[in-house]
Parts: sequence; C-alpha cells; structure tokens
Amino acid sequence: PLIPLAPAARAARSRGEGLAAFNVVHVENAEAFASAAARAGTPVVLQISQNAARYHGGLAPIGLATLEIARAAEADVVVHLDHADDLDLVREALDLGVSSIMYDGSKLPDEENRARTAEVVRAAHDLGVSVEAELGEVGGKDGVHSPTARTDPAEAARFVADTGVDLLAIAVGTSHAMTERTALLDLALIEEIASAVEVPLVLHGSSGVADADIQAAIRAGMTKINVSTHLNTVFTGAVRELLEADPDVVDTRTWMRAGREAGAEEAVRLMTLFRDAKAG
Ligand code: G3H
Ligand code: ZN
Repeated sequence: PLIPLAPAARAARSRGEGLAAFNVVHVENAEAFASAAARAGTPVVLQISQNAARYHGGLAPIGLATLEIARAAEADVVVHLDHADDLDLVREALDLGVSSIMYDGSKLPDEENRARTAEVVRAAHDLGVSVEAELGEVGGKDGVHSPTARTDPAEAARFVADTGVDLLAIAVGTSHAMTERTALLDLALIEEIASAVEVPLVLHGSSGVADADIQAAIRAGMTKINVSTHLNTVFTGAVRELLEADPDVVDTRTWMRAGREAGAEEAVRLMTLFRDAKAG
C-alpha cells in the first residue's frame, strides 16, 4: 500500500535502521523496487525527480504509474517527488496524490529557502503529505563534484524548527552521480547533527558510498538512504550484457526484463544492508 514518508522514517530512525529510497525513471524501476521491498520485508521509498518527470514530459505519466504500483504492492511504499525546486511541480505532485515531496531550496538564499519551504510544508501537511528539505547543498548534479559542502548542526536545528519539515537532507561528504564508491563521509558531523535535530536525516548521493560506510552512516544517525546512479549502472549493465550475448533481440521486453530483474536483486541486497546496519 501507499504510505506517507514521515512515520516510516521516524520508525526506522527509532529502530536504528536505514530506509531505502530508490529513484524511478522508468515504470520497470518502480515494479522492480516494489517487488524487492516485499522480498526484503521492508518499506521502500520510490522517488521521482524533477528531472525524471521532465524526461516523461510531465510528472503524471510516471507518477500515476508509480502510485498505482505502490497501491497494489504487498510492501509499504512511499511515492516521493525528489529534488523539486519548481513550486508548480510541487503543486502538481500534491494534486496527483504523491505521499511525500522533497522541496529543494538549497540553491536559494537562506531566508527565501526557509520561507518557501515553510509554505510547502503547510500545503503538504494539510493533505497528510510528508516534506523533506535540504540544507547545505549536496551538489554533484550537472557534473559538478562538490564533496566539501557541510551542513552546520545549529543551523540545521533552527531550520527544522522554523519550517516544520519532516526530514532533513544534509551535506556530510557525498556528492551526486558518483560512479565509484569512494566518498569519504564525515561521521562525527552526522552524529552531531543527529543529536541536534529530531527529524530523520537523509543521505543523498549514496551511490558514491561503499556498503560498510553506508552502514556506519546509519549507525551515526542517517535514516533515508537515496540511491539512484548505482542502480542505473546495474540496470544498464544487465541490458548491455544481454544485448551483447544476443545481438538479434528485437522485443524490448526481453532486455527491459533483464534490467528490471538485475535492479530488483540489487535493491533487495541494499534494503537488507540498510535495515541491518546495527549488526554491521
Ligand atoms: O536524490 C537522489 C539521490 O541523492 C541519488 O544520488 O545518483 O548519486 O545515488 P546518486
Ligand atoms: Zn539527491
């Protein structure tokens, strides 16, 4: 079934578990991750970025398909609008029925980020929808690698109190779209922010982080773990392998299915890894 993000993230945080958040670009991704969640026995966040919505010419085609998959799923599934800085798109997502949104005002001047985030929180909470915001730009999109950005713990606490957001994305050493898992996390800063801030924390750019370091980050206080690029690599790798082995393939389902299955396998592995971080 479709569930809101905030209670699932709070429950995960109180148990010391990570909550998997995987990006959906194609309908096959949503199918793979929803079935993987049932296999792993964990909830999952299916997130659609503003960029992915634009790829489909709007949020509705991929958003409605993902919502339908969530409602029919055996597992608890959050459908989340990821990295939206366009307030019209936020409104569209709320009208469509998503259960969570990330309003990303991290590129705006601080005052404006706060005011707009608070406005989004009011509109979303009226509908029972959760809100994630970001403080301290994670960066890395558009090919810019910015692993040096850091969120200040006191500012983070003030931001959460002023805006009423349900989750906070923080900058602690990751960078988006890394294809090597070599990011160096600031675990001491994660601990500091986790003790200063009551809401669950979000790690963006987790594709760049090694398995053991993700588990250490969860133990230090991170909850929602966002992975996109790594799962794209797995999907594309499986498709490439299949097409190279059989260059005569014509039916698109043949290679889409290979990508979907490989993505589901890796999703199960990651969900289990995040959930069991305490034991790691
Ligand atoms: O919001 C999405 C994530 O931060 C994904 O980042 O592609 O580097 O895993 P990634
Ligand atoms: Zn992100």
